Amino acid sequence: MLKFDFNNMMKKYIGADGLTEQDLAAVAPEAEAAFGKFAARRGTGMTEWADLPYTQDAVVKDILACAAEVRENFDNFVVLGIGGSALGPIAVFTALCHFRYNDLPAEKRGVKFFVEDNVDPERMLALLDVIDVRRTVFNVITKSGATSETMSQYLIIADILKREIGEGWQKHIIATTSAKKGNLIKLAKKEGFRTFFIPDGVGGRFSELCPVGLLPAAVLGIDIEGLLAGAAAMDKRCSEGDMGKNPALAAAALQYLAMKRGKNISVMMPYADSLKYMADWYCQLWGESLGKAVDLDGKTVHAGQTPVKSLGVTDQHSQVQLYTEGPFDKVVTIIGVEKFRGDVTIAEGAEEFPDVHFLSGHTMSELINTERVATEYALTRSGHMNNTVMLPEVNAESVGELLMFFQLQTAYCGELLNIDTFNQPGVEEGKNATYALFGRKGYEEKRAELDAAPKKDAKYIL
Ligand code: PA5
Repeated sequence: MLKFDFNNMMKKYIGADGLTEQDLAAVAPEAEAAFGKFAARRGTGMTEWADLPYTQDAVVKDILACAAEVRENFDNFVVLGIGGSALGPIAVFTALCHFRYNDLPAEKRGVKFFVEDNVDPERMLALLDVIDVRRTVFNVITKSGATSETMSQYLIIADILKREIGEGWQKHIIATTSAKKGNLIKLAKKEGFRTFFIPDGVGGRFSELCPVGLLPAAVLGIDIEGLLAGAAAMDKRCSEGDMGKNPALAAAALQYLAMKRGKNISVMMPYADSLKYMADWYCQLWGESLGKAVDLDGKTVHAGQTPVKSLGVTDQHSQVQLYTEGPFDKVVTIIGVEKFRGDVTIAEGAEEFPDVHFLSGHTMSELINTERVATEYALTRSGHMNNTVMLPEVNAESVGELLMFFQLQTAYCGELLNIDTFNQPGVEEGKNATYALFGRKGYEEKRAELDAAPKKDAKYIL
């Protein structure tokens, strides 16, 4: 079971900058109200994601059947998607598959796996250098069916497939998109692509537990029922409005209190390489959900907390100096793992050098976990707010728990901040500007607005 330890958010441990029992008591009614607001609308509007662990029996069956066919008939599975349509699949792949998965000999792995979440031409060319498109399935994932990055990748790949394969090229595309909106569903119907649907009330960054994440995971042989069971278990643990009994609500209320005290940065620091990309996924979830200019009453608030990803122990040697001695503007969330899935003993040697030899006989998991505790200590000693999320081990269930924990924390925090957690007008603005600059029909007004913007001054470019 995931444990959330917030001792080091408290004054008793970190001193002046910490929270008191009175602070917790004062925020409890607000937290309870936030829980109530979310509970009242969960499953409706853009909160359908909260019910995904319970509503997908038929979808899971279809996904498992499709995944078995992909594994049987192809060598490569490539996700074409960006943002919420890519970060979840990357995080879960990294958490639950072998670290050198694609490099393993074919008999020790399933199909090779790639996620293409950028439009860098060199990266596309590199992908085409290492895959045979005739042996590849491309999973085009876009809820809106309009995102320029994903649709340009689709166009490039569809053209190559038509040329290389001709008849039957459509079997190489699986579309995961909205059933009702956007162009990808129209294209899918026209071409006869296999399709999976992103429910209306599931936004990109909350979509890992729907076909967006479940299909790639199933193709990789990940236990998707375990993922959903873990998410359901966390959801059930978060079914009360009492912060003392709801870990995600407590985590949300603590960040909310921290934000009110000027902690504008949220550092996510897993001490496990397998969870490195979970921090990326979290950064989108936290940043895009809470970073809002106006609140639900239309008041200008510029809410949010800048998420920063950090990896223990690697970033102890680049960022932790700042976190322990720099400004008191952040909360560091450490993710620890009690039991690693494998271990390596540090060998005997260098007996004549005690400063090296003391390492011998310990295991690498002891070392990484000791360094985690040491960083926690250093942060605490220097008076910096930190908290720890502990996983017993990294497996499908615990990853499901972790995903749901952060999603619920984000939703509760959005309620506390009185903002719309589920929209992303800032992202849409960038998307629209791209459409306008690329001459998309219907965006003439936006183009005129861009053309009218002040031109850059050469004197500021050196
Ligand atoms: O969370 C979100 O809604 C966004 O980050 C989207 O996931 C991202 O912009 C991609 O959108 P789409 O799935 O429509 O291609």
